[in-house]
Amino acid sequence: MAQVHVNDRDGVRVLTLDNAPVNALSFAFSALLLSAVQAAESDASVKAVVITGANGIFSGGADVNDFSTEPTPETKTVRDVLLAIEASNKPYAVAIDGNALGGGLELSLTCDYRLATPKSKVGLPEIKLGLLPGAGGTQRLPRLIGAQAALEFMLKGSTHAAEKAKTLGVIDEVVDGDVVAAAVAFINEHPVKRRISAMKPWIAKGIPNNAAPFIVSQAHKMVPKEQSGGFAAHKLIDAVEAAVTLPFAFGIAREARLFEELVRSAPSAALRHIFFAERELSKVPGLAAAEPLEIKKAGVIGAGTMGSGIAITFAQAGIPSVVIDSNYDAVEKAKQTVFGMFMYQVQKGKLTQEQAWKLGQSITFTDDYSALDDVDVVIEAVFESMDVKKQVFAKLDELCKPSCLLASNTSTLDIDEMASVTKRPDKFLGLHFFVPANIMPLLEIVRGKDTSAQTLATAFKLGKALRKTSVLSANAFGFIGNRMVFDYAGAAGAMAEEGVSLARIDGVAKAFGFPMGPFAMGDLSGIDVAWHIGKARPDVVSARTDVINRLVEMKRLGQKTMAGYFKYDKAVGKGREPIPDPEVEALFAEAAAKAGVAKHEIDDAEILDRLILALVNRGAYLLEEGVALRAGDIDIVYVYGYGFPPHVGGPMWYADARGLKEVHARLSEFAKKYGKQWEPAPLLTELARTGKTFALYTKELAHA
Ligand code: 3HC
Repeated sequence: MAQVHVNDRDGVRVLTLDNAPVNALSFAFSALLLSAVQAAESDASVKAVVITGANGIFSGGADVNDFSTEPTPETKTVRDVLLAIEASNKPYAVAIDGNALGGGLELSLTCDYRLATPKSKVGLPEIKLGLLPGAGGTQRLPRLIGAQAALEFMLKGSTHAAEKAKTLGVIDEVVDGDVVAAAVAFINEHPVKRRISAMKPWIAKGIPNNAAPFIVSQAHKMVPKEQSGGFAAHKLIDAVEAAVTLPFAFGIAREARLFEELVRSAPSAALRHIFFAERELSKVPGLAAAEPLEIKKAGVIGAGTMGSGIAITFAQAGIPSVVIDSNYDAVEKAKQTVFGMFMYQVQKGKLTQEQAWKLGQSITFTDDYSALDDVDVVIEAVFESMDVKKQVFAKLDELCKPSCLLASNTSTLDIDEMASVTKRPDKFLGLHFFVPANIMPLLEIVRGKDTSAQTLATAFKLGKALRKTSVLSANAFGFIGNRMVFDYAGAAGAMAEEGVSLARIDGVAKAFGFPMGPFAMGDLSGIDVAWHIGKARPDVVSARTDVINRLVEMKRLGQKTMAGYFKYDKAVGKGREPIPDPEVEALFAEAAAKAGVAKHEIDDAEILDRLILALVNRGAYLLEEGVALRAGDIDIVYVYGYGFPPHVGGPMWYADARGLKEVHARLSEFAKKYGKQWEPAPLLTELARTGKTFALYTKELAHA
């Protein structure tokens, strides 16, 4: 039960926040804390107050769930607590042991002194939720560490370890051992108020305060535009401007107004959805009781780009690995690539020479399969061919110890068919990393028909150790992400045949917020990859088959050959900037003539709808078929794997927010104009008819 524990030590009142799991400062908990503060105020025997946290954390901040409920006049918020502390004449200190984030750090900033253990971390991550620090953070931090440093601190929203926070000036003392005892002693030695609100705002050392307008305008220029994910950032900068130009009380009022505006904004609702969807991912029915296995060492089969990237990921997580390839030259090349990558990080100052050496030493490169005898998991990343993969797995099944998990990194192929050549289908699964594996945060965990709960629980634990965002998918062609991207790329290809330039289609996707358009993405992943998929499943790439075949014939395989849908030139954007090529537009025109597709005008709104609604419609199928467990899982796949703008919340959230009736009508219109592949999925039709949303459907499914 949530409570604020009260203890008196040497005339100091110690208040311990205890609201598991993260001591969130919810409306209800703020009311409890406010009472405890008021009680300390009215008790004459209390000379000073120390606030600390239970549950291994100080506080994760305000309760994000509260932002979706309307406060009543009786509601108490963290701001009421801070007002009471601000008004007090008794000195306050905080004893931080664990995270102090958001409202939790703002509570600390309202107190006079801040002590923390070395393992503690502090931060104001509100920006990641599309918010700004709304409990005085934007007004106190600029006074404490200067507006320039405060802007960087809040706009990045990163957390900082205690020592770094002390260097920044956010923490006063870093204390080994009993931080509460240290805080009690500290406040007895410094029984004086030191309100940050009474400090003069300043910009940065050596910069006069009259430079404020320049600093503010520079900050506005450095963040994304309001409609492109920068909505909260601009408001945050406005709040900091208020801190350096207005008296404290006015600045606080301004901050509160801006905060309320953001809480009600669509981008913040979308980002909060992403926050909770991410935390739902590992909640898979039937997994809670499963005991995950220990992964102490891993094997990676295939020394190509993917295999090397996976080995780097393991090394960075402190898990030694063996990379095996029967081609000795490939092994040597991978070794050089991996060491080169670590040395590059040394050059950039991200690793010391010694760290790079250790990371390099944790990976063994060999062509000898017997090196796999003690590994706990093997990830196969060989050529995308079922026959080749089956041969590899039959061999692995013979060589690896019985408890070892066998995983394929395939992006489309049938996990069960591969598992069938082993005697351990319960220990078989898909672990689909995205290129480059050491950078991309997404991991699709693919469950075969016999994959055990323990294997899945181990995969989720491994994903966490590798610092990946893991999403469960059933075993279906292309799993979640690639299955959807085929429809997305198909919609783009169809529009190119109808006469829209590739650059314009990509431009519309980028304006929506994708880092690149569908054709540039095709060039990045490789035209040959699409060609292979088209051979296995012609239906999924139908609109582009002819063009893809021609591009492969012309050896235009994408960025890697400096030509694909676009041209590339080393002198333009380091060879990564797509350059439109009339030759490819002509290929689409030829394909259109052959298929009898007429050229016609299409406006930008339709281009966007055909791209995004293709994703939504396929998402509805995947949800209904149980390939994805929740609408939020699909959104996470798209945000973390394909660059869908997080402030729009993912395709399913976007559809819900737009209204499924309207989405249904638009898909039906496309079906009439462009064919039955656009017919709305049965689930979408049903939800539109009953006025429901994907989110509601997911919730009802979980309860059922
Ligand atoms: N509000 C509500 N629930 C929260 C929460 C918060 N601020 N922070 C965490 N939780 C919940 C999670 O949803 C999860 O719930 P579940 O068990 O039902 O799924 C549970 O707490 C544990 O969270 P994690 O799984 O993330 O646990 P970790 O130990 O991995 O991480 C954490 C803990 C670092 C605190 C991480 O949860 C986190 O970063 N939380 C968000 C911090 C944040 O953004 N704070 C700002 C809030 S807004 C604010 O303070 C506004 C103020 O300026 C007025």
